[in-house]
Amino acid sequence: MQSNIEVFKERNAWLQRTGMNGPTLEIIGAPEEKASGAAARELSAGLTRLGFCGPQAGKIILDVDKTLPEEGYRIGGGKISGGSDNGLLYGAFAFLRELAQGKEPFEIKEESAPKARFRVLNHWDSVSGKVERGYSGNSLFFKDSKLCFDESEIIDYARLIASVGINAICLNNVNVPPDAARLIFPESIEKLKSLAAIFRQFGIRVAVSVAFDSPVIDGLDTADPLDEAVSLWWNERASELYRNIPDFAGFVVKADSEFRGGPAALGRTQADGANMLARALAPHGGTVFWRCFIYDCLQDWRDQSIDRPKAPYELFMPQDGMFDENVVLQIKHGPVDFQVREPNSPLLGAMKHTAQGLELQITQEYTGQQIDLYCLPVQWEEILAFPEASGGELRSIIGSKITTIAGVANCGKSSNWTGHALAQLNLYGFGRMAWDPSLSAREVAGEWARLTFGEPWERVRDLCLKSREAYEKYTTPLALGWMVNIHHHYGPSPEGYEFMKWGSYHRASHSALGVDRTSKGTGLTKQYNGKLAETLDDMDACPEELLLFFHRVPFNYRLKSGKTLLQRLYDDHFEGAEMVEGFISEWQALKSQLAPEVFESVSKKLALQLENAKEWRDVVNTYFYRLTETPDEAGRKIYV
Ligand code: GCU
Repeated sequence: MQSNIEVFKERNAWLQRTGMNGPTLEIIGAPEEKASGAAARELSAGLTRLGFCGPQAGKIILDVDKTLPEEGYRIGGGKISGGSDNGLLYGAFAFLRELAQGKEPFEIKEESAPKARFRVLNHWDSVSGKVERGYSGNSLFFKDSKLCFDESEIIDYARLIASVGINAICLNNVNVPPDAARLIFPESIEKLKSLAAIFRQFGIRVAVSVAFDSPVIDGLDTADPLDEAVSLWWNERASELYRNIPDFAGFVVKADSEFRGGPAALGRTQADGANMLARALAPHGGTVFWRCFIYDCLQDWRDQSIDRPKAPYELFMPQDGMFDENVVLQIKHGPVDFQVREPNSPLLGAMKHTAQGLELQITQEYTGQQIDLYCLPVQWEEILAFPEASGGELRSIIGSKITTIAGVANCGKSSNWTGHALAQLNLYGFGRMAWDPSLSAREVAGEWARLTFGEPWERVRDLCLKSREAYEKYTTPLALGWMVNIHHHYGPSPEGYEFMKWGSYHRASHSALGVDRTSKGTGLTKQYNGKLAETLDDMDACPEELLLFFHRVPFNYRLKSGKTLLQRLYDDHFEGAEMVEGFISEWQALKSQLAPEVFESVSKKLALQLENAKEWRDVVNTYFYRLTETPDEAGRKIYV
């Protein structure tokens, strides 16, 4: 990761201890392997950045050892071995990561290989140059309806994301209007080819989001997947792409979702649509990442027979076994939409014969928009530990049923890629946890804080780790979800989505809150397997943090703490805002140890966060007070 300040204090301490003034580590590469070139290049540049540039101190040997997993590596005794050129590159980055955290070069010992085959960043960049749900400036890839990029910036970006193990990138937004659909038309191929060539140097394969209706945009009269002319059209597009980009990763597809065209609109199944694209890509080794984010987005809020979170499972489960091998069904982690707290999607792990992908959101759409501090790895750790369909933790099927971990990227042309110095942790954490899903949030936050801030790393780490809890408390605790302002999704609006077509309701009345999704209600709990379904179905047994997702709960219901639901909601909102006040003082205390620009920029963000937290507290508490006419037991002022 790019460091915010030049700290590497531990590294300097090592230099002093050994009495060596900037020693050189000579790199002995494996010359017959083309990208041990890349590993040697990155290692050498990294060593120079870390201060190894004086007299010679020892040798680092790079070699390819085909007995290792393809992308895996082994480091020990001054040798870095990789299962392939890319494995070697990951080994070089891992070596640098340890060195930068103060380890002595010849004591670094590590062996690692990723579980997921695809560790993908999904950019939601529009060809206009804007980024949908982007809070980090404009696109790195597009401007004025065209591919347009700064080569040296892309090299830095590719290095940044490869250093944490990303091996594929989808360049454009899943919503593909006609101008973006042209990205795979002949006129764009040259530029796409040169962009892919940069990423290739870092072991990263390029994918694009395609419009299912592309053939129609190009003049055909249908996009029907069973029409021969349509298949031919896609075959030709694929052949041309692969002639120019032999390692092209494939297509990401949002079909039949939120007003996008798709096979269902043409009377065909999801499998018909996905397989038609898969067959165009298969001869070239490409993959279709077919998104499962499909639901009725024109729902009548009065109609309680439709329940949005049930939709993906209802649609895709019956088609298990019908998808070609090179189709990955990409499933959002929760059954609704990247809320602060959701149960995992019941579809994850449920399909026995279909490759699946876990989709996470790194960009903070519903989680503070890179104004509020929000450490996503804390949430991802819970998601990875949540039971999958056959009962084990979700992380246990990564590498088998789940072949892909995709994250909606949080990067753009802002000075530090992510627009908030501490939001870099989310990008770092995504890469590291996608590589090794057994890593904890504490581990990845610790690594990142140490690499980025040096000495005060533990205090920065601890501050970040608390941020998820604070945000959840001052917004929508107990998996209540959806009280955001419409469209932009920042700040509170308790009934913003309540009487809308989107299917995301909490149905608060004067006496109760939440939707009954149990077997007596909409039946969502029945989509979960065995014991978990029983637990979720029972209001007293359901994990409290998920209570309002599965149950309609009276405001006077007593929680395990003895508090009523209403009192818990009041308390959480006060506590969440107080936690942010605490973050501000903790950050102030670090002032002398931080680079002034980092200190200032984060201080400003924290001040905005406090305003946001207070607004949430007051608006939501007032809303519940007005509905229930029941004051806070502690007598605090709860209305604006
Ligand atoms: C959310 C988000 C949209 C996005 C969609 C998706 O609804 O607000 O901007 O297009 O998810 O994941 O497709």
